[in-house]
Amino acid sequence: MEKLKIGIIGTGGISNSHVRAYKQMEDVEIVAGADIVSGKAREALDRWELPNAQAFESAEEMLNSVKLDAVSVCTYNSTHAECAMQALEAGCHVLLEKPMTVTLEDAQRLRKVEKVSGKILTIGFQPRYDSRMKKIKEIVQSGQLGKIYYVQTGGGRRRGIPGGTFIEKRYAGVGALADIGCYSLDMVLNALGYPKPLTVSAVAYDFFGKNPKYTPAEDAARFSVDDFCGAFIRLEGGITLDFRMSWAMHMDTTGNTIFLGTDAGLKVEPANPESLWGGAWDGSCGKVTLFHDAFGEPTSTPIPLQDANEDRFYLKCRSFVDAVEQGLPAPIPTSQIIYNQAIIDGIIRSCACGHEVEIQVEEI
Ligand SMILES: NC(=O)c1ccc[n+]([C@@H]2O[C@H](COP(=O)([O-])OP(=O)(O)OC[C@H]3O[C@@H](n4cnc5c(N)ncnc54)[C@H](O)[C@@H]3O)[C@@H](O)[C@H]2O)c1
Repeated sequence: MEKLKIGIIGTGGISNSHVRAYKQMEDVEIVAGADIVSGKAREALDRWELPNAQAFESAEEMLNSVKLDAVSVCTYNSTHAECAMQALEAGCHVLLEKPMTVTLEDAQRLRKVEKVSGKILTIGFQPRYDSRMKKIKEIVQSGQLGKIYYVQTGGGRRRGIPGGTFIEKRYAGVGALADIGCYSLDMVLNALGYPKPLTVSAVAYDFFGKNPKYTPAEDAARFSVDDFCGAFIRLEGGITLDFRMSWAMHMDTTGNTIFLGTDAGLKVEPANPESLWGGAWDGSCGKVTLFHDAFGEPTSTPIPLQDANEDRFYLKCRSFVDAVEQGLPAPIPTSQIIYNQAIIDGIIRSCACGHEVEIQVEEI
C-alpha cells in the first residue's frame, strides 16, 4: 500500500509533536514542510531526520509543488484559517491545531471551503483522547444527572504565561482564552453534546502579562492579549455556562468543573492545583465526584478515574490518518468546534463593547 503523503505547515513548537506522532506510523510519510521564516522548514526537516522531505517558505508554494494527501496546520492562530483553506482547496485533508481560528467569520469561511472541498478538516483537541475525559462525557450523557442546567468550567494557571507568538495579538489573536480556555470549553461542550451558544457576556484582563514584575520585561512590552478571562454564556436548552480561565493570578485555581443537574451533580477537580503551571484541562483531572441522594439522604460517590497514560497526541494524529485512509468522518468535526469558536468570538466582542452580545452561527 502506498504511504499517506503528509506536509507540515508551520514548523514551530507544536509541529514537533505532530512529526513525532507521524514518524511512529508505518503507513505515513512526511514529504514536505513549509514555514514563512526563511530556512526554518529546512532546519526542522533536517532536525527530524527527514533529509529527503522538501522545504518551502510558503504553504502555497508547497501545495503547488508537491502532491500531498494531507497536512497538519501548525501555524499560530491568526494564520490558521488561510493555511487550512489553501490546503483544502489544494485537495488535502487537514488536521488543524486548536483553536480553530480567531474569529467566527474566519471559522465560517473555512467551513464553507471544507464543505466544497469534500475533504476532512479536523481540529486538534487531544484531551478528547484521554479515557478520563471520555468517562466524564459518558457520565454526563448517561442521563443520571437529570436535566443539566448549570455548568462551570475553567481552572487556569497561577503563573503560566507563555512567550513566543502566544502573547502578541497579531499572531495569537487572543491569549489564555484561546491557548487553554478552548480546552475547558471543549471539555464541557463535548460532554453536553455541543449545545448551541446563544449569548455571552465577558470580561478580560492583562494585569500580569503587561507587568514586568510577573513577565520578563521584553515580553511585557509586547504583551497584547488577555491573561485572564471570564464569561457568562447562555446555551440552548436552558443551560448556563460559567467560564473562567487564567494564565496568571493570585489564586491556585478559578475552580472545579461542575455540572449541576436536577437529579445529581458532577464535580471534576483540577489535576494539580498546587502546580503553578497546571490547571489546563489537557485531558488530566483530579478527583471526580457524583453528588446525589441515596435513600433520601444527600450522598457523594467518588468515581475513581485512573490515568491510563494514553499518548493523547499520537491518538489525535492517528485518528486523523485513520479517517483519511478509511473514509471516516472528521474525528473532531468543525460542526462541533464552530460553537467553541463562536463562544471565543463572542467573548472578544463582548469584552470590546462592555456588554452581553448575541451569538449567531450560520448553518453551513
Ligand atoms: N495541541 C496542543 O497541545 C498545542 C500546544 C501548543 C500549541 N498549539 C497550537 O499550535 C499552534 C502553533 O503553536 P506553536 O507553539 O507551534 O507556535 P510557533 O510560533 O512556535 O510556531 C508557529 C509557526 O508557524 C509559522 N507560520 C505562521 N504563519 C504561517 C504561514 N502562513 N505559512 C507557513 N508558516 C507559518 C511561523 O513562522 C512559526 O514558525 C497554535 O495555534 C497553538 O494554539 C497546540
